[in-house]
Amino acid sequence: MPQDKFDLVIAANRLPVDRVREGNRSVWRRSPGGLVTAMESVMSGRDGAWIGWSGVPGKAPAPFEQDDMWLHPIALSADEITDYYEGFSNGSLWPLYHDVIVPPTFRRRWQAAYEKVNRRFAEVAAELAAENATVWIHDYQLQLMPRYLRELRPDVRIGWFNHIPFPPVELFMQLPARDTLLHGLLGADFLGFQRRTDAQNFLRACRQLLGDDDVEVRADLVQTADGQVCRAAAVPISIDSRGMARLAATPAVRARAREIREQLGNPEKLLLGVDRLDYTKGIRHRLKSLEEMYREGTLDGARTKFIQVATPSRERLQAYQHIKSEVEQTVGRINGEHSSFGAPAVTYLHRSFPREEMAALFVAADVMLVTPLRDGMNLVAKEYVAAHDDTGALVLSEFTGAANELKQAYLCNPHDIARTKRTITRALEAPAEERRRRMRALHRQVLRHDVQRWAERFLSNLAVAPRQP
Ligand code: ADP
Ligand code: G6P
Repeated sequence: MPQDKFDLVIAANRLPVDRVREGNRSVWRRSPGGLVTAMESVMSGRDGAWIGWSGVPGKAPAPFEQDDMWLHPIALSADEITDYYEGFSNGSLWPLYHDVIVPPTFRRRWQAAYEKVNRRFAEVAAELAAENATVWIHDYQLQLMPRYLRELRPDVRIGWFNHIPFPPVELFMQLPARDTLLHGLLGADFLGFQRRTDAQNFLRACRQLLGDDDVEVRADLVQTADGQVCRAAAVPISIDSRGMARLAATPAVRARAREIREQLGNPEKLLLGVDRLDYTKGIRHRLKSLEEMYREGTLDGARTKFIQVATPSRERLQAYQHIKSEVEQTVGRINGEHSSFGAPAVTYLHRSFPREEMAALFVAADVMLVTPLRDGMNLVAKEYVAAHDDTGALVLSEFTGAANELKQAYLCNPHDIARTKRTITRALEAPAEERRRRMRALHRQVLRHDVQRWAERFLSNLAVAPRQP
């Protein structure tokens, strides 16, 4: 590598690349997703490094350069994957921060591993950061890293962005490590959240759970006993909107969208769901609504088809195995009752797809169903909207961060099956002019507020965050 110190260091649980096989050798390929695109744009012209886990257990590969970024893999042992990643991150924090949709589990061993791994990330960041560098930490897996890094490197500017919700204090206070975690975050200069409510939940947790001797909370600022100040505010994330709009308009993607509809027997209406197979995504509620609609005849299995793409996720955790088998059973039942020969009512795809295929699915769908029970943002909703300028319709759960911005979507409460069914019908049957008006407004909103603007906003908030009172 040309150098060993960097002005901008990104830390996230995962590196922005995946190990893939090419012929008989394995190579790193840039992972899809807006975060990587956004970081590429903010890193261009600066010296940037990214630290994260490679996704496999054991010794970390040597650091390397890819797409003008210095990538520094962090090792996780098999036990650390169990305790830090699957345990504390996805068995304690993920369900707790998503409205306890499934009960969180708390284990002292998991917390110890979380502390150890966060310290490891902080040590590497401390080594890589140039003097007065900016370190941008991402997500719930790394909430202690700001404090550990601050102890090692008081000179650097530390920002943290939470991609998921921050829970109300009544739920957050269940966490045995709650004070440690709050102090961990307060090591940062600036904390970014998806919604104002998330930032307020965090500030309220500081006010209520930490002692007056420990912190003073004034408006959006928290001052700790050592005189450091940390600011918390909403900076909602977005997508590479222009990239998606451009891709969706290419002749190849348009042709593939037509082909997808043909392969499904040219249905009159095509509905689509795209999610990681996660219990937060409301897939079960969505399927229940659709199953009732097929049964009652509001939807006709021969004329209205539904595609559910469900990406495999966190498959060793019981809650994920459970939702997977529930979804599979329900899809089987709906298809058994409502499919015609060679044309299932529900096409269920449990795997990942290239960006082009995702774009073609978005273009092909008349109505996109995004029905999470809780979601920090939901980028899929924004991707669908970016792929359509004046066609299509978005049914969107009120429990997503995206609902704060995408006001012209057909909003629904996925717990309320009766009304969700009516909302789906409205989205399907609304006059073309109404759908066009809504989609134009949504498209404009997403194109104006893209991921690059988000990254710039985050970094400028971080740059001006007051360090002292
Ligand atoms: P989460 O981050 O919780 O998974 P989001 O909706 O915010 O949910 O982001 C998911 C991202 O993953 C989107 O960019 C979406 O296009 C992408 N994605 C989801 N499923 C697949 C899939 N099967 N193949 C490829 N990309 C996918
Ligand atoms: C969400 C989280 C990310 C996480 C992603 C995939 O988007 O906010 O931090 O990387 O899900 O989950 P995984 O556990 O596979 O990294």
